[in-house]
Amino acid sequence: MSHTPAEQFEKISSVIFPSAADAAAALAREVRALIEAKNAAGKPAVLGMATGSTPVPFYRELIRLHTEEGLSFKNVITFNLDEYFGLIRDHRESYFRFMQEQLFKHIDIPAENIHLPDGTIALDAVFDHCAAYERAIADVGGIDLQILGIGRTGHIGFNEPGSPKDSPTRLVPLDRITRQDAAADFLGEENVPRFAITMGVGTILRAKKIVLMAWGENKSEIVARAVEGEENEAVSASFLQSHANSRYFLNTAASSALTRVKLPWLVGRAEWTPQETRRAVCWLSTKEGKPILKLLDEEYNENGMAELLTRYGRAYELNIDIFNRQQHTISGWPGGKPRADDSNRPERALPFPKTCLVLVPEPQDDVVGMGGTIERLVSQGHEVHIACLASGDLRVTDAEALRFARVLSETAEIDHARWAEALRFAAGIIEEIEAKGMFGDPQPRLRELKSLIRRGEARDAAQSMGVAANNVHFLDLSFYAEGRYRQFKLSTKDAARIGSLLDKLKPHQIYLTGDLADPSSVQGMAFASFRQAWSERTTAPWRANCRIWLYRGHQKEFEPHEIEMAVPMSPDQLARKLSAAQKFQTHTLTENLDGSRNKHIAELYDALGMAEYEAIEVFRRWME
Ligand code: F6R
Repeated sequence: MSHTPAEQFEKISSVIFPSAADAAAALAREVRALIEAKNAAGKPAVLGMATGSTPVPFYRELIRLHTEEGLSFKNVITFNLDEYFGLIRDHRESYFRFMQEQLFKHIDIPAENIHLPDGTIALDAVFDHCAAYERAIADVGGIDLQILGIGRTGHIGFNEPGSPKDSPTRLVPLDRITRQDAAADFLGEENVPRFAITMGVGTILRAKKIVLMAWGENKSEIVARAVEGEENEAVSASFLQSHANSRYFLNTAASSALTRVKLPWLVGRAEWTPQETRRAVCWLSTKEGKPILKLLDEEYNENGMAELLTRYGRAYELNIDIFNRQQHTISGWPGGKPRADDSNRPERALPFPKTCLVLVPEPQDDVVGMGGTIERLVSQGHEVHIACLASGDLRVTDAEALRFARVLSETAEIDHARWAEALRFAAGIIEEIEAKGMFGDPQPRLRELKSLIRRGEARDAAQSMGVAANNVHFLDLSFYAEGRYRQFKLSTKDAARIGSLLDKLKPHQIYLTGDLADPSSVQGMAFASFRQAWSERTTAPWRANCRIWLYRGHQKEFEPHEIEMAVPMSPDQLARKLSAAQKFQTHTLTENLDGSRNKHIAELYDALGMAEYEAIEVFRRWME
């Protein structure tokens, strides 16, 4: 494998694309070339397929090549990586059904060419079934191109940490993190199967060519470990290091922890932009374990930053400059401080008060990411609106809906005449849940009840941050209301809904998240919808006066050099934020529930030599 100096730490060739769509299109072109070459040779093309969010844009591109450009899959044979154990093929979350819906039913692949492990096999027949799966792959001459995603545990297929390099197709238990990641699909972690049948690492490595795709900042750390770390069982995806023809296809967000992106001055010349300079100095401070103002000339010289030092003259000048810039991010006035000099503050003093709009992709993103800041904005006199974009009903269990329906139906019994309608509604829900069982598809009525439950929680949480119920908006974006996890499709209706709220409120500040998320996630979809609405309003007079601040709910926290506004919190404020987060009872994010993320940022600021706070919430500005 040939390397540029910048890629010297990378043990797997990694291609960074501007977006997931670009990467998916490039991979689809390779698949097309493979199919055409195999056709010309009179042989089938054998593809190894993956499920999950990651390949969704790739499958959509294959469908486009088929429908618009006539690419035929008649001569393609597929083998999927894995299947949940114990799920029938028709189960909403079976990988069989996923593949049908995402790809197979839209192309002309013959049914007999499709292979997936069978999740319904009896336990004592699993061993033979797995051996037969391996044989079937060998019988068609092996896999020409294996497509992979990567789990947060570094798994490929369901080869969780500890899977041996030569492992074959087999039954495996699923890791806790993997089960948590699948909890939304299964309406609760307790419903996620505990086992799966997966191709082994050995099976995967026998493919002639392998491409692993990863999108979004949440994958960046594990990607960097797999690409730059030791090849070992702790990260199955690192085993691709010893494969002769394997590549990682990344979007910029997923590549952000690779050394060439994160610490470019260690592997060649960095472009010393103000942002990069701040990044390098904060990194050096953390590495040396001392505050910025104590960094020495020789420490810069020894860490690839001699050129930077030359520009500034002395460490002292550089230290002061970065210290001031980092210090100026701190503000207890996220809406701007009225009647104060704002030249060194993150937000303008005027206009005051401001209209602030917090866009929330999924319930609780706002509280987890910026609950303390919302409370401050309200208490400092700003008009704060919260707009919940997706209802979040897909995360509410049937048991929870049943509880509400029963309460409703029992209430109805108190005054039967007035409540007849409600009683019918509740009875219908109870009947439906009983009839559909744990895994049936919910009808719109049930999803509606679940969204109402989540609305109640969002309103309670907003209220405990001081936001009036009238200022909480529920947009129920249709990508979510009409979709399912990993299968969401953008709809222009959604940009229109967000747009009309923007036109109505004419906000001076918008807070949102999801810019670097996996594009198929709720946050990624919500961001894309917002972006469309925003770009359709270039001439709106209010837009010139509106600042957009990014927060992090679900996503990876900002690094110190990325932060442009740091809002400190006292112990009391942190406690209030955490109690607001507890209003979400039917589903709660696992991130930051104890405020550890906010405490960690405060510790970082302290270590850099700023002030010592209890906790901090952080933001970055978004420029189109
Ligand atoms: C899917 C599979 C898994 C996923 C991985 C990433 O068949 O085997 O390894 O590729 O869990 O999942 P997503 O793409 O949903 O982030």
